[in-house]
Amino acid sequence: MRFEINRRMKTKKFGERVYYFERVTSTMDIARELAEKDEPEGTVVVAETQTTGRGRFQREWYSPPGGVYFSLILRPAFLAENVPKINFLAAVAVAETLKELYRLNVKTKWPNDILVGEKKICGILTEAGMEGKKLKWVILGIGINANFEIKKLGKTIIPATSLKEELKKEVSLEELLQRLFERLESNYLRVKKEGFAWLLKRWKTFSDTLGRNVKVQTSEGIFLGKALDINSDGALVLRLSNGKKKKILAGDCYHLRKKGG
Ligand code: BTN
Repeated sequence: MRFEINRRMKTKKFGERVYYFERVTSTMDIARELAEKDEPEGTVVVAETQTTGRGRFQREWYSPPGGVYFSLILRPAFLAENVPKINFLAAVAVAETLKELYRLNVKTKWPNDILVGEKKICGILTEAGMEGKKLKWVILGIGINANFEIKKLGKTIIPATSLKEELKKEVSLEELLQRLFERLESNYLRVKKEGFAWLLKRWKTFSDTLGRNVKVQTSEGIFLGKALDINSDGALVLRLSNGKKKKILAGDCYHLRKKGG
């Protein structure tokens, strides 16, 4: 199945150039090569399957046919410290798109997972290339469990679901990609104009993390506490059991059971 995504798309740049593959190692690898060769912002690498799809913390991202796997090249004029917030941009765009198209009750898990119920349906990965202190490119990789049954994934670290599983039918991947690129582009343009504050606020409206007891694995160790907020950097603010607050900029977050759950 070929993706004819740029036919009816209302975007200016995103998805204007699409490199489409039936099978790749990882769309991140191809997008990175293209970005190094001055490919313009908005170019997308899409694949039907990936043989070595990757997730955060070098985990494997199993990519069976029927899923959505793409990497988008960005060339933001932001400071490098803003790169983590591109995850929030992507998470909001995916959440809005899945909600609008399929009326799903989507939630975000800090920093950049999309859940339906307590189960993960989408993962987001960003990689950045620098030239000295300047940001040269950012590759935004998004994987959505779409038209396959979840047993195709085998054992997952956290429970997973797919659109097919939730909707009991297959969806049009072209429509999903089109709508997602439109959302990604409009949110990106707004961030460029107005900054990230509105976006972080929007992310909070989808958040399943805030207010919950969580366990966060970081390079400094594991922290347990109540997720109070995210700050203007996108860092998670925890209330630890000793009453102190702890800000965490990067880590792997696990939601603990809801109170009484
Ligand atoms: C995560 O949740 O750990 C992030 C998963 C990101 C997966 C996407 S699929 C498209 C792109 N290519 C990859 O190899 N990874 C990202």
